[in-house]
Amino acid sequence: MPALACVDAAVPPPGYGLAWDGCLPAPGTFPGGASTAVTADLEHLSPWSPDLSAALYKIDGWGAPYFTVNAAGNIAVRPYGPVTLPHQEIDLMKVVRKASDPKSAGGLGLQLPLIVRLPDVLRHRLESLHSAFDFAIRSSGYGAHYQGVYPVKCNQDRFIVEDVVEFGSPFRFGLEAGSKPELLLAMSCLARGSPEAFLICNGYKDEEYVALALLARTLDLNAVIVLEQEEELDTVVETSRRLGIRPVIGLRAKLRTRHSGHFGSTSGEKGKFGLTTAHILSVARKLQRLEMLDCLQILHFHLGSQIPSTTLLADGVSEAAHIYCELARLGAAMRVIDVGGGLGIDYDGSHSSGSDMSVGYSLDEYADAVIQAVQYACDRKGVRHPILCSESGRALVSHHSVLVFEAVSSTTAAAVDPAAALGAGPAYFLDELPDDARGDYRDLIAAAFQAECDKSLIYMDQLKRKCVEQFKDGVLGIEHLAAVDGLCELVANEIGAANPVKTYHVNLSFFTSMPDFWAIGQLFPIVPIHRLDQRPRVEGVLSDLTCDSDGKADRFIGGRPSLPLHEFGGGRGGRGSGKEGGYYLGMFMGGAYQEALGGLHNLFGGPSVVRVTQSDGPHCFAVTQAVQGPSCADVLRSMQHEPELMFEALKMRAEESGAREGGGTPEPWATALARAFHSMPYLVVGGDSGGDGMSSDSEVSAGGTEVGDDGSYEEWEFMRRLSM
Ligand SMILES: Cc1ncc(COP(=O)(O)O)c(C=O)c1O
Repeated sequence: MPALACVDAAVPPPGYGLAWDGCLPAPGTFPGGASTAVTADLEHLSPWSPDLSAALYKIDGWGAPYFTVNAAGNIAVRPYGPVTLPHQEIDLMKVVRKASDPKSAGGLGLQLPLIVRLPDVLRHRLESLHSAFDFAIRSSGYGAHYQGVYPVKCNQDRFIVEDVVEFGSPFRFGLEAGSKPELLLAMSCLARGSPEAFLICNGYKDEEYVALALLARTLDLNAVIVLEQEEELDTVVETSRRLGIRPVIGLRAKLRTRHSGHFGSTSGEKGKFGLTTAHILSVARKLQRLEMLDCLQILHFHLGSQIPSTTLLADGVSEAAHIYCELARLGAAMRVIDVGGGLGIDYDGSHSSGSDMSVGYSLDEYADAVIQAVQYACDRKGVRHPILCSESGRALVSHHSVLVFEAVSSTTAAAVDPAAALGAGPAYFLDELPDDARGDYRDLIAAAFQAECDKSLIYMDQLKRKCVEQFKDGVLGIEHLAAVDGLCELVANEIGAANPVKTYHVNLSFFTSMPDFWAIGQLFPIVPIHRLDQRPRVEGVLSDLTCDSDGKADRFIGGRPSLPLHEFGGGRGGRGSGKEGGYYLGMFMGGAYQEALGGLHNLFGGPSVVRVTQSDGPHCFAVTQAVQGPSCADVLRSMQHEPELMFEALKMRAEESGAREGGGTPEPWATALARAFHSMPYLVVGGDSGGDGMSSDSEVSAGGTEVGDDGSYEEWEFMRRLSM
């Protein structure tokens, strides 16, 4: 500790002037703090640059080829991956401005948080998946083609499913459903897809499900009923007889190959799903007896999501390929191997097979491993190569969706001035302290002056504990307790033992928007989407809006307990932190599973959504769809409340009380109430007006709620919307 060590520790200086009279030097940072290490290391590299931010946040690792940092220090989207031309890059910050600026400033007036969907990226993922298999097939002389399906459970959003069907049509790309509503949506979307595309019907089935799947065949949809359990066969046989529709049947095999990561619980002999070898044999024999062995055409398995390595993949595929060949030998009309999902993505950019956050292979290597394993098994057994199908979900839709949210405040690192808390000087402070606490205080000051860190911490702890006890006994006043806390914080700052990590409060619910982060410890890349040309000088953790201590992010990719962030404060309108006003962060690679799994904890509903495509106009992008997130009324309604009645009851109450107090009009009150029902549950962050008028090249605002930005929420307008 600088400057103070010359004082005799046993005899603290008169008045214990530590910080009370401002004689301490400015607080330093803890030199050994792990979380500050990266920013400290980068401190000597000057000046800062967007490239350094890309390295710090590992953007080239997890983000390539779709995300990069542009010269302005903003995240840029590369909609066509590696073949994106520089002028085609989309500045994410411009999209956020366009979406959130008030309409009067040329924006769409949407509230954050915001999901930015990038259909161009989705198309690129689909085409890359197809061409990886196509290339592996051509280069190995494999004798059949690949046609994948998208498991709609990854994200059932109508526009995503429709995009997959449209983009996948030239490749016979189909859909997979795991429940009756998923089957209904898959049927209706595939009616506009390739007639050869598979409609894979997975999941547990009752008669109604089976009947729907059979009906799909009469609509010329290529529906396959995959048996998850042996008992389902009876339902399939009976329903098909009753309806007079012959089924195409698949079997889901319970493989012995087991993937050991979190997602591997689906696989192995004890896995939840599929038929064991004995069940498979039994189904084949039953179908033979019924003269329906020609209906059995597909073998399916699913090793689990995020398969870590091609070694494990090849092992599983090989086991399945042998089952396939055996079924062919038994007389089934086998045509297709469906290798399920599990094609992983690299959330942390480490390209390693050691955790669920990454995978140690590329798309091409995945496809190659599948083709090789099937080809080898079939060639050995002299069986014709089957059509290859995969149910890759995560790998298809994760990248195309970015969740943008705003940090609205941060905890201050500055210690409370004890004199200010007390409203008096040190003499009064000492007089009121109980004797033993006074002893701890003296010891603490002495240890601090001697720069004895460990001793200081012990005395600090003792002093605090005793003062709390005295407070609970009613002996010590609240001013003294606050002064003790402030003093201890000052000393901790001085000896370098203060926690340098700040908490950034974000306008988001992790439970709603990143459920896997909370539920299974899944990490997603989280990065500021602007100011990346500036050095991040703070380490921060994120705390969400929910009244729940789990609603925080203090684990980040790369094993970091905190995130390098930019200093908060000083932005436009007194909030935020940058020249653009707010401080915006992006959660990337969250396009799969998060939206469907997210709940309504604290009644925070889903984010607003914009669909953004690349455009050759002057702004590089076009917003083709914009939907405001669910309002307070919407989320209340989903819990069986009736916002219309609630509004009426509260308004009546206001009229009654207005009448009691002299008949004042409740109009402004009713408008405020209507506005509350009408807006999203998230914080309405002030200072958004006066945007820079950035615009996109064209826009088609479809669906959702339009939000006025001039405060003209009239009661009748609210009621009209509700009744619509
Ligand atoms: C049967 C089945 N198919 C496909 C998938 C999609 O897996 P992924 O998203 O890992 O590709 C899953 C996911 O759990 C599944 O259970």
